[in-house]
Amino acid sequence: MATPTPTPTPIPQPPGVPLLGNIFDVDPSNTWWSLKTLSEKYGEIFQIKVLGHRLVFVASAALAEEVCDQKRFRKFVGGPIVEIRAAVHDSLFTAFDHEESWGVAHRILAPLLTPGRAAAHFDELLQCTDDLIAKWTGPGSGARVRPLADLNLLTLEATTLAFHGKKLDCLEPGQAEHPMIQAMEDATSEAMKRPNRPRLLNWLVHGAKLKKATKTMRAFAAELVRHRQDNPSDRRDMLWALLNARDPETGKALAESQVIDEIVTMSIGGSTAPCVLAAALYFLLQNPAAVGKARDEMAAVIGDGPLRHEHVAQLAYVAGVVRESLRLSCAAPGFNVEPIPRPGDTSPVLLAGGKYQIPHNQAMIVVLAGANRDPAVFEDPLAFRPERMMGESFEQLPAGVKKWFGNGKRECIGKHWAWEFLMVVAARLIREVDFAAADPNYALKQDGWFNIRPIDFVVQARPRSGGVQE
Ligand code: HEM
Repeated sequence: MATPTPTPTPIPQPPGVPLLGNIFDVDPSNTWWSLKTLSEKYGEIFQIKVLGHRLVFVASAALAEEVCDQKRFRKFVGGPIVEIRAAVHDSLFTAFDHEESWGVAHRILAPLLTPGRAAAHFDELLQCTDDLIAKWTGPGSGARVRPLADLNLLTLEATTLAFHGKKLDCLEPGQAEHPMIQAMEDATSEAMKRPNRPRLLNWLVHGAKLKKATKTMRAFAAELVRHRQDNPSDRRDMLWALLNARDPETGKALAESQVIDEIVTMSIGGSTAPCVLAAALYFLLQNPAAVGKARDEMAAVIGDGPLRHEHVAQLAYVAGVVRESLRLSCAAPGFNVEPIPRPGDTSPVLLAGGKYQIPHNQAMIVVLAGANRDPAVFEDPLAFRPERMMGESFEQLPAGVKKWFGNGKRECIGKHWAWEFLMVVAARLIREVDFAAADPNYALKQDGWFNIRPIDFVVQARPRSGGVQE
């Protein structure tokens, strides 16, 4: 006899207000903070209704793991992801499942983003990190700095040098803020806000901001292309592949406008990494013992000399610091999934063995602030404990708490480069710089759009007392 399906439990929803629904439950200028707060109140799953649309949020490790089953669910391209297509069209991040362009770009770019390729850029990464450390520990050290602002520049600097062979020198003293930083902020903030505004208002009042940001981002990418065309090089890097490689499956190459789409997309994707590092500095300031342990590990592994690539894989404790920062920062705050369409079958989709039901075409948002801090998995989930992210303890954690790079086919294509970047920069900052909180009472507050970052987090940086021989 078939096991009867249990009667579904209604998906919890905040009470809301007549006609407008839950519009006041989500702050449009800090959506992810609101979702974090709702996940703390409602737990593993909740829904809201805004302007007649139902949005379902998954916020536990078990449900996150379930909706990452690629046999049942796939990435949902909707809302802000569709809005950012105004800037990057059918690029890797924004392509609909049916668009051929995704496969073509993925097969061209994935070989350039393997762990081995990331390692090949190690010296360039060191060179850019030198710029940051010089800025923080050189003349004027001890001044108040906003780590995120400089880490944003470091990310742009390092990815542009490694992927496209051009040094921007945007960390040099006296440089004005690079226009890409504000343009990425403006484009992604607009993309997040537009789905919840009436169309007329988007068009009449807010259209110019996204257009201007798009123009700036595409001009940056076009300039990299032009620079390479004017200065031919035998570097076989990302830009070379974007301009010359052919998809091994279809034989197609990327058109120049698609090259620009992908450069902009990767810049936006990469801008998550500085958010992780800025949050890591906050967690380390709260946990000085972790700094001590990381420094002891580096003294044992690296000794007195400079950090070399072969050291990176041996820094298990630093890896724990980076993973724990990925977990607690939720720098990429979530991702969207939907049930894979089942032609002719509109029966509800069951979750948690039938405990919950959603319509057959209901998109869901995985809220990593819920899944990553699930008390069913972590003892004292808000505590910063690198040890639980090391070795076997890490391996044994359920898959649903390790989704900081997304899932499956649409998982982050830049994850190996991001890992190399996070490890090298975290290791060097811990090893070479002493940080103090500018405001000892500062408590972490985050905001953001496609990525979330500490707000108003200010530190004082000085060369490590006693020094490190680099
Ligand atoms: C710590 C740093 C990073 C984190 C936490 C992160 C996180 C993510 C997540 C969660 C997704 C899935 C998005 C979705 O399902 O809608 C994603 C996709 C993506 N990321 Fe990253 N990312 C990081 C760094 C990077 C870097 C450095 C690049 C540059 C190559 C990059 C490029 C992309 C692209 C192109 C996609 C779309 C992939 C596809 O759909 O095929 N990301 N990332």
